[in-house]
Amino acid sequence: MKVGFGSDHAAVELKAALMAHMEEKGYECVDFGADSPSEKLDYPIPGRRVAEAIRRGEIDKGVLVCGTGVGISLAANKVPGIRAGVCSDTFTARMIAEHNNCQILAMGARVVGPGLALEICDAFFSSSFQGGRHARRVDMLTQIEQDYGYADAPVR
Ligand code: RB5
Repeated sequence: MKVGFGSDHAAVELKAALMAHMEEKGYECVDFGADSPSEKLDYPIPGRRVAEAIRRGEIDKGVLVCGTGVGISLAANKVPGIRAGVCSDTFTARMIAEHNNCQILAMGARVVGPGLALEICDAFFSSSFQGGRHARRVDMLTQIEQDYGYADAPVR
């Protein structure tokens, strides 16, 4: 599986730790910036980069981190067909995969420490979408995008 990683300047170190962890586990990891804590990279930029790479089929999933995880997830969620969930616990990380079919896990570097962040990441990547009644609900999210005229919304 190919996984894209993005952060703003507030979460560069956490992104590096997550990438090292995932590479060790055998995932192919792609870095979408930021490159350094001293390089100001506003969260909409990496959030959009990773979401659009998923949409184009260049990567399978993504991990996004900023100070809270919120700004960068909002950016990703603006890309049609993309679902990013912010997590600060392992239960939610499992649920956003099993129930919400999120392609992107988002976390806040100012919220969770690195040890917990790695466990949250493991919970997300070891879980998969359960389909069934959850598929109907995820389809309803897609319907909202289509009702507002967002281009070609479905990305499964
Ligand atoms: C940057 O200071 C901070 O606003 C950002 O990392 C994030 O927390 C936004 O949601």
